[in-house]
Amino acid sequence: MIVDPPKPVFRLTRSCGTTVLLAAGESVLETFRAHGIPHASVCGGKGRCTTCRVRVLDGVESVAPPEPLEIEALSRIGAPPEVRLACQLRPACDLTVMPLLPADATAEDVIGGGGLDGHEALVTVMFIDLRGSTALGESRLPYDVLFILNRFFLEMTRALAASGGHYSNFTGDGLMALYGQDGRDPAQAARDALNGAGLMLAGLERINRDLATELPQPLRMGIGIHAGEAIVGSMGPPGAQIVSAIGDTVNTAARLEGLTKELECAVVVSRRAARLAGVSLGDDTVQLVSLKGRSEPVEVHALDRLG
Ligand code: FES
Repeated sequence: MIVDPPKPVFRLTRSCGTTVLLAAGESVLETFRAHGIPHASVCGGKGRCTTCRVRVLDGVESVAPPEPLEIEALSRIGAPPEVRLACQLRPACDLTVMPLLPADATAEDVIGGGGLDGHEALVTVMFIDLRGSTALGESRLPYDVLFILNRFFLEMTRALAASGGHYSNFTGDGLMALYGQDGRDPAQAARDALNGAGLMLAGLERINRDLATELPQPLRMGIGIHAGEAIVGSMGPPGAQIVSAIGDTVNTAARLEGLTKELECAVVVSRRAARLAGVSLGDDTVQLVSLKGRSEPVEVHALDRLG
């Protein structure tokens, strides 16, 4: 008779100090259950609800990266790289984890009560705004304006999806988007944002072509892009939380978008974002500008097109 060799066993420690043994191949959630340790798991361990999420305090560099199912769930809540799903995480090393939701968490806690504390991340932030929508409202019926706005947002969200951007906030005539909140390489995120801006400008050209006979004048838009550290996480009123970001980087990106009017250009990209992306946008497009609320001037590229 052939006897299987015993499975390797690892030490699994909770942030409260409790340590249990985990057999190779078992998930963190299965191990907690086997030892009678209550742990949130609204979907029963199917990788859908994210209530089982834990922050890996020690050993994160030794665990296998998440599979697509876990990546998809974690990106929905804007989780940083050290946050993993206990039901999907099968460590082959000693590990220390901190549960992020109470053991009796419900589905509402996923988006309603938060529980995902914000984290600092190097992200690229983009603000876009449709120019002249007030004048449009004066010359068109409200339903026409609604149609035009919806077409505009359709093109913008398509560009976001194609470039890997995250829709973060609706700002009336525009929106805020994030690149890199999902833990991707910050340089790649900055390149994706520049690519996204180029796709948005192309989308606007398409609208102007398709609606040439409807519009009193071609639509114009402003795009502001900046990169830097920001606090990223689920935020907003209970029941309506979104993954967004706050901080000086966000405020600066918003002001760069506003600057497109003053500089009479379509896109203002901070030099920091362009450098992070490793992209040359031309020395002749650089300007030194003062922004409200910032003591230091900021170097920016003022552009009419990208790509
Ligand atoms: S238990 Fe639902 S995602 Fe892990």
